[in-house]
Amino acid sequence: EKSGYKHFMLKEIFEQPRAIRDTTLGRISLDTGKVYLSEMKITEDDFRNATKINIAACGTSWHAATAGKFMIERLARVPVEVDYASEYRYRDPIADPSALGLLITQSGETADTIAAQREMVAKGMKTIAICNVVGAMIAREAHGTIYTHAGPEIGVASTKAFTAQLVALFLFAVHLAQKRETISTEESSRLLESLSLLPGKVEEILRTVDSVCEQLAKTYSTARDFLFLGRGIHYPIALEGALKLKEISYIHAEGYPAGEMKHGPNALIDETLPVVVLATKDNDNRDSRLRYEKTLSNIQEVTARSGKVIAVAIEGDEEIKQLVDHVLYVPSAPELLLPVLEVVPLQLLAYHIAVRRGCDVDQPRNLAKSVTVE
Ligand code: F6R
Repeated sequence: EKSGYKHFMLKEIFEQPRAIRDTTLGRISLDTGKVYLSEMKITEDDFRNATKINIAACGTSWHAATAGKFMIERLARVPVEVDYASEYRYRDPIADPSALGLLITQSGETADTIAAQREMVAKGMKTIAICNVVGAMIAREAHGTIYTHAGPEIGVASTKAFTAQLVALFLFAVHLAQKRETISTEESSRLLESLSLLPGKVEEILRTVDSVCEQLAKTYSTARDFLFLGRGIHYPIALEGALKLKEISYIHAEGYPAGEMKHGPNALIDETLPVVVLATKDNDNRDSRLRYEKTLSNIQEVTARSGKVIAVAIEGDEEIKQLVDHVLYVPSAPELLLPVLEVVPLQLLAYHIAVRRGCDVDQPRNLAKSVTVE
């Protein structure tokens, strides 16, 4: 059932082009620039008048949520609050019936996420689930569900479900923006066109970057710690890269906002520390270019202290080669879609390092695929 792959995780990483395509399929029209979501017990007015979006999720799904916040706020101009589902209930949240709840979960059975949903509903909020398992508990209780069509995920470490969640969040953000009239037809057509190009771009990454990551694993599989840095929407992807590495290779890894390094973590840097930096940019986006420039200075702060830098950058970026030890290239895309591309090299890097360390990649110690206790 692994279709010739050594592990389910690797198979699932390679299934991402299809997972992304299937999650998009039938939901967008490139002609009208519209996003179509299935029937929901949520009215046009609920979408239009929502004062806030509250998202709750756990683990990798929480990372998708945190990236989704950037998509929703940027496109639909509505404030988004993201909580760990396990924290949400216990902070006596200011839940307002005019806010919309969003729950993100691959399994749809994570106890904390279900509890967060019930808390939202009890306070009069309507909820939408982004879920990968048809008919799961969360979907049965939500007012609407956007299914990710990643297919069954067997590896404990989430990969294709994550990229499918990013796509579902992007669809939700564009949909909400259309209802709230914060996006022009031209902009949404352009964004949906870019979305439809992602599967081919992920295929290209799988073709070109897999063997590079396998090589890098030889050098870095003995590292004791790893840092992953990113800014803006790339910061949650840094967190995801760190989580993938720690859960399957048992190497201690931390994700950090690149700009926060000088406020403490720079003290950790020495010649033994590999630092993975998300240094992609969308050339058509001014904020993205600025963020990139700042990230380059953060890279220099690391190399000046002899840290080893592995950068994820956009194809054709020759400048960055001079500054870092290794570059993993991904094709270009609009800023809000870059996370879908840049996480793929991080998954492959974690995978190959774990394999070299002889770890049980599909069944990491102490972990379960779905966490049904609080
Ligand atoms: C990490 C991972 C976990 C899950 C988390 C939530 O690779 O898979 O962090 O993301 O347990 O699970 P779901 O999405 O099923 O609610």
